[in-house]
Amino acid sequence: MADNKGTYYITTPIYYPSSNLHIGHTYCTVMADAMARFKRLSGYDVRFLTGTDEHGQKIQTIAEEKGVTPQEYVDGVVAGIKDLWATMEISYDDFIRTTEDRHVKRVQEIFNKMYEKGDIYKGEYEGLYCTPCESFWTESQLVDGCCPDCGRPVQKAKEEAYFFRLSKYEDKLIDLLENTDFLEPESRRNEMLGFIRQGLDDLCISRSTFDWGIQVPIDKKHVIYVWLDALTNYITALGYPDEPELFEKYWPANVHLVGKEIVRFHSIIWPAMLMSLDIPLPKKVLGHGWLLLEGGKMSKSKGNVVDPVKLIERYGIDALKYFLLREYTFGQDGVFTNEVMLKRMNFDLANDLGNLLSRTVSMIEKYNGGVVPDATTEDDIDRDLKAIATGAAHKVEAQMDKFAFNMALEEIWVVIRRANKYIDEKCPWILAKDEAKKAELDTCLHNLSEVLRIVSILIYPFMHTTSDKIRKQMGLWYADVVWDDAMEFEMMYQEKVKKGEAIFPRLDIEKELAELEEMQKAGKADDEEENIPLELKPAIEFDDFDKIDFRVGLIEKAEKHPKADKLLVFQVKMGTERRQIISGVAEDFSPEEMVGQKVIVVANLKPRKLRGLESKGMIMFADNGKRCEIVTTSAPDGEVVS
Ligand code: MSP
Repeated sequence: MADNKGTYYITTPIYYPSSNLHIGHTYCTVMADAMARFKRLSGYDVRFLTGTDEHGQKIQTIAEEKGVTPQEYVDGVVAGIKDLWATMEISYDDFIRTTEDRHVKRVQEIFNKMYEKGDIYKGEYEGLYCTPCESFWTESQLVDGCCPDCGRPVQKAKEEAYFFRLSKYEDKLIDLLENTDFLEPESRRNEMLGFIRQGLDDLCISRSTFDWGIQVPIDKKHVIYVWLDALTNYITALGYPDEPELFEKYWPANVHLVGKEIVRFHSIIWPAMLMSLDIPLPKKVLGHGWLLLEGGKMSKSKGNVVDPVKLIERYGIDALKYFLLREYTFGQDGVFTNEVMLKRMNFDLANDLGNLLSRTVSMIEKYNGGVVPDATTEDDIDRDLKAIATGAAHKVEAQMDKFAFNMALEEIWVVIRRANKYIDEKCPWILAKDEAKKAELDTCLHNLSEVLRIVSILIYPFMHTTSDKIRKQMGLWYADVVWDDAMEFEMMYQEKVKKGEAIFPRLDIEKELAELEEMQKAGKADDEEENIPLELKPAIEFDDFDKIDFRVGLIEKAEKHPKADKLLVFQVKMGTERRQIISGVAEDFSPEEMVGQKVIVVANLKPRKLRGLESKGMIMFADNGKRCEIVTTSAPDGEVVS
């Protein structure tokens, strides 16, 4: 495809490799991938960038906990992220890691440029810091005293630091947000304007309390604030400033796709940095909503993440991508449920699209020897189908211009559903019974083939593997997928069709739901060891605990209590002393199996009489209320247990 429409540079956020990515993270990348593929198919010279944001205190802390270096830790997680994108067939052109040399040296050059411009100065920072979010907050920004982004507690922190003169750019930022469509959706723009109008403080852009970061080039005790480091990825990946070839070609970016909680960084700090560097601003920052679970946000710590790899293994990449793009409305939050996903897969993919293909191919094989017939007749129904099918490409383009992936797919499904209705209206199986209707039958089969050809082009940006499968079955394997061909009708010419496997097998929803639930439960158990506090008796002081004298006792003799079926009477040796202890375990143990066991005894319990016999102390058993286990030790009898 000739690149004749100019360049198109699209980016995703660079992900924190603090743990494996979940389906919420894949949502943004799947959207960016669909847009990149769509623009390529429409004739743009596309550059699609993604990557990982690898510095900062949080990563350093996790690595320390795991006993590895931060670099070792991120290398492992990043390898997994790259595997995930390969599995999901994400068509990025570059993957930037903020620990790469190319990035590190360019960030330092950028810092120097801003410093030389007089936009960076040294001062002292005192503020409230949220470690997981790597963000300083002012008192007024806190929500219920906690971080407004993640809701976790913040800590007071004070350090000598470098500052970026963000306040200098306040007016320019207001102008940018007020008078351009730099930031969408509208609701975010208003939110950001409100934020800026409260007054922008200069931004603290260095840290000295940890060292996992890019060193401040003029003061090696400090590392550069992780957001300053991360945001520059969009230009360092293009070689700015030292190898400007790609930068000159692709910058400014057409769009930065970002989640709603990081819009603030992209629509205030990032443009101000670019203003400081005298670099043109990206054309658009688009903030998307979150994928939530019924209980709220997906988070590793809640153990409620949905693993995209497991869904792909079960349903295939295209089904998952289709669902993510079709179900949710850009800019709004959406709830992920297995049931909604399975229904989409069954109704839209297996029923609507899968059936259209299999019915069409079967009928061409049955009624015309597997060869797409020519059309020689036309009635209103044919004309209607044709108009809807050839008109869809423009509608899809219009929706894609608005990043309305769900509506773009809906436009395609209008065509698919119309074609299925067309089959019901035309009843080819009835036409086939009448020789005189052969021309009408041929037209019907031809038109269905044209529709499938058009659909295979329209879905290509979203589900290219499915498109290939359709084209193979329709005998179109030899032809390139060309976007403009979706606006033409008479392009099929006696292709030989060949029935293949169902492109989307029908799912038994009940069964799948049960199995997914099992799988997700098991995944949760694998992922995180359960940690639910036990219901305990009220806490005691150490002094109380210290009053108890636990000793090792050897059971030398055991017999049934003469007057009580549930009791066993033990003769226990503890060092120099021998004594009698009675326990209520006759239902769990025979006297014989207890002899010779070394047990733990509460030795200073006041003696008491049990059905006429004295018991001096108590033997410890593990007891779940139904069954007892002996707690044994190999330590010498008489020894203190503490
Ligand atoms: N490292 C920063 C971004 C720096 S960009 C210069 C970061 N990383 S992140 O891994 O925490 O998040 C990356 C993106 O994933 C964000 O845009 C965030 O909104 C998105 N998502 C994380 N969980 C999500 C959902 N449950 N749903 C949709 N997107 C979500 O922030």
